[in-house]
Parts: sequence; C-alpha cells; structure tokens
Amino acid sequence: MKVDVLLGLQWGDEGKGKIVDVLAPAYNVIARFQGGPNAGHTLEFEGRKHVLRSIPSGIFHEGIMNVIGNGVALDPLLFKEEAEVLAASGFDLTKRVAISKKAHLILPTHQLLDAAYEASKGEKIGTTGKGIGPTYMDKMGRSGLRVGDLLKDDFMARYEDLKAKHDHIFLSMFYPYYTKTLEAKWHDATDYLKRFEWIDSEHVINHYLKDGKAILAEGAQGTMLDVDFGSYPFVTSSSTICAGCCTGLGVAPRHIGEVYGIFKAYCTRVGSGPFPTELSDSTGETLCRQGYEFGSVTGRKRRCGWIDLVALKYAIMINGVTQLIMTKSDVLDAFDVIKACVAYRIDGKEVMEFPYEINNPIEPIYTELPGWKTPMTGMQSENEFPEEFNAYLSFLEEELELPIKIVSVGPDRAQTIVRN
Ligand code: GDP
Ligand code: IMO
Ligand code: MG
Repeated sequence: MKVDVLLGLQWGDEGKGKIVDVLAPAYNVIARFQGGPNAGHTLEFEGRKHVLRSIPSGIFHEGIMNVIGNGVALDPLLFKEEAEVLAASGFDLTKRVAISKKAHLILPTHQLLDAAYEASKGEKIGTTGKGIGPTYMDKMGRSGLRVGDLLKDDFMARYEDLKAKHDHIFLSMFYPYYTKTLEAKWHDATDYLKRFEWIDSEHVINHYLKDGKAILAEGAQGTMLDVDFGSYPFVTSSSTICAGCCTGLGVAPRHIGEVYGIFKAYCTRVGSGPFPTELSDSTGETLCRQGYEFGSVTGRKRRCGWIDLVALKYAIMINGVTQLIMTKSDVLDAFDVIKACVAYRIDGKEVMEFPYEINNPIEPIYTELPGWKTPMTGMQSENEFPEEFNAYLSFLEEELELPIKIVSVGPDRAQTIVRN
C-alpha cells in the first residue's frame, strides 16, 4: 500500500477540505502533515457547514482514523475550541482523532510574537495571526515544545524557559503584552488534549501501511505558500508540498502513491505578496462575489484573478502530481470570456517557467476561451457539461499534461463530479 497525498496547487483555499471529505470513504486513515490552525477547510453536507482548522477532514465518516502528524503545529486552546464545536454538533472526536507526540505546541507567546513581528514589518506578510511562524522558528531553532513534552515532570520549567526566551524578544522589540488570562486557558486546554490518543505517528502510519490500510495525507495551505518554493517571503512557515508529507508523517518517499493536485478554476490569494494574475477591477470583484471569496479563518476578503498556468505547472512539477482536481467551476458560469495566463512578460521577455523573482512587475499573457454561460451547480454527471466547459477542461489538460479526474461544481459534498 501507498500513502496518497492531496495538495493545494495555488495559494491555498482550493477546496482541499471538501474534496478530502468526498474521498475519505475510500481510506482508513486521513492524516495532516503540516501547518496548523492557519488552515481553514470548509465542508458542507446535509445542509450544514463545518470549518476545520487543525482537525483532518475525515472526521465526518465513521471508522476512519484521523491523525495529526508530527509536522503539524498545534495550539491546544484552538484545538479544544474546534473539537468542542464539533462535539456540540454531535461529533465526538475522542475516538476518531489521534495526535502525534512530536507535533509542536503553539504557545500563547508564539501567537503574540506573530503579531509583534507583523507590527514591526514595513511590508507585512498578512499572516493569519495564529503563531505559525514563531512556532516553526522555535522548532527549527531546536527550542520548541512538543505534545509529548506535556507528559514530562519538568514541562512547566521548560515552558517557562521558552517563555523567558520570548520575553527577551518582546523586550527588544518594545512590544508590551499580557498573557496571564490566555495562558490559564491554554494550560487548561492541554489537559483537554489528554482525552485524545497521543501516538508515535510515524510508527502507527507505517504499521497501517504494512497492514494494507489505505492512507490519505491532507495538505494545508498551498504550493505557492511553501516555505521553499512559494512566493518567499510571503509564504507560510511549513513545507506544504508533497515532500512535506514524508517529513511531516515519517513516510518514506517510495511509499508515496497518487498525488492529487487541487486547484480552483481561477485563482485567489489571501494576505500580502505577489499575485501575477490578480484582477483589481470589476472582473475581480465578480469572481470574489460569485465565489464568496472570504477567508474561513480570518474572514478577510480573498484577492481574485484568472488561473495562472505558469504557477500551476511549477506546482505540478514540484509535487509530482499524478492527477488533477478542479474546484469552483460554477463560479465562472457568468463570464462571456474566460482567461488563462500561459506565460509572463518580464522586462519585455516572455517567460514560461516560474521565475525566482515574482515580486517585481509581471505582465500576464493570456489565452482567451469562450465562457459557457450555463449554471453548473445542479449538474450531476459530466454528460451535462456544456461544450465550452469541456473545451476549457481539454485546454487545461493539454497545457498541464495531466487528466482532471474530479470537477467540483458547488460547495456541497454532493456537488462533485468524478470523470471517467
Ligand atoms: P481549503 O482551505 O482548500 O479547504 O478551502 P476553503 O474551505 O478555505 O475554501 C474553499 C471555499 O470554497 C469553501 O467555502 C468551500 O465551501 C467552497 N467550495 C469548495 N468547492 C466549491 C465549488 O466547487 N464551488 C463553489 N461555489 N464553492 C466551493
Ligand atoms: P488553507 O489550508 C490561504 C497565508 C496567510 C499569509 C501567509 C502566512 O485554508 O488553504 P501564516 O499564518 O501561515 O504565517 O500566514 O499564508 N495562509 C493561507 N492562505 N489558505 C490557507 O490555508 C492559509 N494559511 C496561511 O494569509 O499570507
Ligand atoms: Mg482554507
């Protein structure tokens, strides 16, 4: 058996949660391998909407084990809040979610440091404010605390040591802060965390593999937010790419199976940073309105633009994508003309390969295709697809050199069409 991986190919919010939920019944295990509560994965079914942040998107199906892997940054307080909301909706997660002892803890001071760093920057990243950057800085700096450390007798001493280190940073930044109330809640939440199974997830995952269990690794964020290959420094602080699944779960590269690459029929970005196909005009506004493009974590308006094939080809290459999934096709229903960026013009030169520097001006070069002007949300099979939509799919498949196996035509679980 292999571990299949589902990854966002753009700047996040491609609809990963929705599709993981759709694919979940074919798997025994769903595992998150990076990121933390900066993620917001929205799932809709039976007239209800759920937003998941740290919890994998397989939890709404019985009999599936959902693993929070070692590569994840976990805030016990936000985790508790998320799990309690789900428990109130009738989903008791204590038997469905297991947490890696090696997952790093997001401390209250990490969250405050995130705000302090942002406040000190001239050009802000526009983070989600969940403490992601500072937590991964401590992980890489070898001073972080992990879930398993909560069981150690000297945990409080370690906690105070790390907090003292943070205090020095706050002092040097002249950044006043108060954490007492937040800290008390945070420590309570670490007790709540103990209701869940804490595991050596690398062993558990590899045992599952040996036992022939089907595993799906669920990516958070997107390839263009990857710390190495994204639009640095306007990125998140984890490896959002397929390789991140190996380090974030303890899965050897030879055990990676299908790599599902998911993208929107257009493109969005939330937070700052370059976005070559961004539309600051009425077309961008229409995409935002039709796609209801507001962040599920922060409520921020997402920036919108046409699909960027230069960036998509790059993401496909980096991840070794084996099949594609396109979401939000219905959002383009209303357009007379659909545009797709096939190259960049930089300093008068046409560039087809995603360049080192995208912070300087880039002019997107577009191919235009006719819109389908037919509502797609009610469609249930590919036989109903309008001719122009099929032409858009064929164009993308030819450009990206991969099949688009699943098309999503609405936010609901049922609004998903698998192609033959
Ligand atoms: P994720 O972070 O990749 O899981 O994506 P988000 O949940 O943050 O953002 C995707 C948004 O689009 C959510 O509000 C989904 O409910 C919604 N969505 C997903 N697929 C579709 C689709 O095919 N059509 C429409 N209209 N909305 C969709
Ligand atoms: P999902 O999993 C979209 C963006 C932030 C910011 C940058 C760094 O829902 O697709 P961070 O808080 O990670 O330090 O912020 O990354 N960002 C996301 N954008 N979807 C996400 O997750 C994101 N997670 C982080 O807006 O620009
Ligand atoms: Mg999201």
